[in-house]
Amino acid sequence: MSTFQAPKGTYDLIPPNSATYLAVREAISVPLRNSGYGYIETPGFENVELFARGVGESTDIVTKEMYAFETKGGDKLALRPEGTASVLRAALEANLHKGGNLPVKLWYSGSYYRYERPQKGRYRHFSQVGAEAIGAEDPALDAELIILAHQAYRSLGLRDFRILLNSLGDKECRPVYRAALQDFLRGLQLDEDTRRRIEINPLRVLDDKREAVQEQLIGAPMLRDYLCEACKTYHEQVRELLTAAGVAFEDDPKLVRGLDYYTRTTFEFVHDGLGSQSAVGGGGRYDGLSEMIGGPVLPSVGWALGVDRTVLALEAEGITLDIPAATAVYAVPLGEEARRVLFGKVTELRRAGVATDFAYGGKGLKNAMKSANRSGARLALVAGERDLAEGVVQLKDLASGEQTPIALDAVVDEVRRALG
Ligand code: HAM
Repeated sequence: MSTFQAPKGTYDLIPPNSATYLAVREAISVPLRNSGYGYIETPGFENVELFARGVGESTDIVTKEMYAFETKGGDKLALRPEGTASVLRAALEANLHKGGNLPVKLWYSGSYYRYERPQKGRYRHFSQVGAEAIGAEDPALDAELIILAHQAYRSLGLRDFRILLNSLGDKECRPVYRAALQDFLRGLQLDEDTRRRIEINPLRVLDDKREAVQEQLIGAPMLRDYLCEACKTYHEQVRELLTAAGVAFEDDPKLVRGLDYYTRTTFEFVHDGLGSQSAVGGGGRYDGLSEMIGGPVLPSVGWALGVDRTVLALEAEGITLDIPAATAVYAVPLGEEARRVLFGKVTELRRAGVATDFAYGGKGLKNAMKSANRSGARLALVAGERDLAEGVVQLKDLASGEQTPIALDAVVDEVRRALG
């Protein structure tokens, strides 16, 4: 193993591509910030118990994929595999739910860790931008979140994604369904692991990707036939609100999701250009999670969009984001005196808000101009002894090659004018 190799299942974000990641995070957060969501940041690790109780003891995420460890002080911690449990824990700890202003709407952006088998679109370290609306049961809130994610993807120019929608019922109707499903599943030819799953988490069996399993699932009882009146009405309202907003979705009665906390509304954004790791985002309502982690009743809903997969989706659709060059002006000094004077001008330009860079390291003119072109700058400022003696620097348009002398004491104004 080389010392210079990132750990398996991880990769670095490096310029220029890293700019796309920043732009994606920005694009996803804009609609949230515009809709009353406040920014929250929680630690990269939590007590392992939080995820065991929140995400679910029987989920793959907790049993197989969690980076859990014991500290020297004996604390049992885990790198966060997802954001929802942490955000709810933080909201409860800060008593945000007691401010008399429900729902508490929060958004976040950060790194998450799952010990998964790495493949394209599936990493051990990945990033999500997420949103949680805590403490309100209102179909309009579920609809709002789906509409905002849709808006975010659209603002990036994505078109080939679909929204899958389902309801998982609530604590009244789901247990009845669960029992009916278990009865059905116990009669099938399934391997040991899957049989065990029937007893712990039968709904996940529906999600099994293997054909031999899927074939046997034909005729399985469907949750939608077991939904209670309250859940049916709630779901119908979410669907109507989405339709009224012009957001197309597909009903997917088999959509289960990999986390245990969901109730009622669940959804996934899938992109058709991504192969097997097609879920670019997902979420749903989690009315029981607060109680599962020891809090009060706080019906809530949220989602998280995967930044890595969203970038892959952009690539799949051939979309290049319009990211302005990081540098607008590149300064090239010729000689010691010019270096001192031009560096001063660079500082002035930066203080005036003009993105400026400088040819460091005493490069010759040819190399310095190469760097100027590579930087993406529109303008170069070039100065040698003779220019300084005349009180000017040369302002060069890097696209046209046109060069004009400008007064040293008017550099900021002249550059601004030239940039338009
Ligand atoms: P999730 O479906 O587990 O949900 O993850 C959301 C998104 O994160 C996925 O759709 C995917 O784009 C991305 N993602 C997950 N695992 C990986 C991975 N190993 N590599 C790359 N990308 C990945 C949650 O995490 C829930 N907390 C969402 C939520 C928020 N539900 C309610 N509120």
